[in-house]
Amino acid sequence: MNDTITQLFDRKSVRVFEDRIITDEEKTLILEAAIQAPTAGNLHLYSILDITDPAMKNKLADTCDHQPFIAKAPMVLIFLADARRLYDGFNLLEREVIAPGVGQLLLCISDALIAAQNAVVAAQSLGIGSCYIGDILENVEEHRQLLDLPEYTLPIGMVVFGYPVQQQRDRKKPTRYRREFIVHENTYRRMDEHRLKEMMDTQARDAGLPTQDFKQVLDTIYTRKFASDFALEMNRSSLEWMKSFLPK
Ligand SMILES: Cc1cc2nc3c(=O)[nH]c(=O)nc-3n(C[C@H](O)[C@H](O)[C@H](O)COP(=O)(O)O)c2cc1C
Repeated sequence: MNDTITQLFDRKSVRVFEDRIITDEEKTLILEAAIQAPTAGNLHLYSILDITDPAMKNKLADTCDHQPFIAKAPMVLIFLADARRLYDGFNLLEREVIAPGVGQLLLCISDALIAAQNAVVAAQSLGIGSCYIGDILENVEEHRQLLDLPEYTLPIGMVVFGYPVQQQRDRKKPTRYRREFIVHENTYRRMDEHRLKEMMDTQARDAGLPTQDFKQVLDTIYTRKFASDFALEMNRSSLEWMKSFLPK
């Protein structure tokens, strides 16, 4: 394995940070690396909010599903899907302009997340850990106001960065599903009960854990991640974020 691939395999989320700043030089490198990411049509359909205000970090730690480590992160970046910038430009033209639609929304989201992952990988190469925070999609009204977000923007991801404490460096990375369950040759194959069980059982075995009743595992995932209060709130808010892009 070369260094790049080793780094990709080693990367894991970091949620406890050393009391050590990220220098301006490091931050600049991470942001510049993000901007080097591929972007549809080279249009840069995203913006990055660099949250430096401690009061805003505190607020986000609360509004993003009460995760206090957000406030303690030396660097917090919010990746916005952003069709606003170009739409404002188009409106300067002396012609009728069609508002951004769902196609543009999906491209904006793609651009924003690809840039985010470039930032994550660049940070990792400097020894700086990171954690995505999906809960930035929640509480649309509060987040819209806090971040001053206009129509045709959507905060698709927040990433917090900092130097990992030793315990986080030592923490075992969660085991992934095996490749054979993720990669399909040519066409999509739905999984039957047997294959779903195999996927969950092999994950447990690869992690060195005892296998559990796979339906129990699925039930826990469903209850915690799909039917929980935060998930329902995320669905409500996401629809609201998307509204400006939907047909009127
Ligand atoms: C889109 C997305 C949203 C996430 N949101 C959160 C979050 O709100 N809080 C958190 O602690 N981790 C969050 N994570 C981190 C995942 O829990 C983590 O990536 C996963 O458990 C795998 O662990 P690893 O990153 O250490 O390999 C998020 C990851 C992604 C990709």
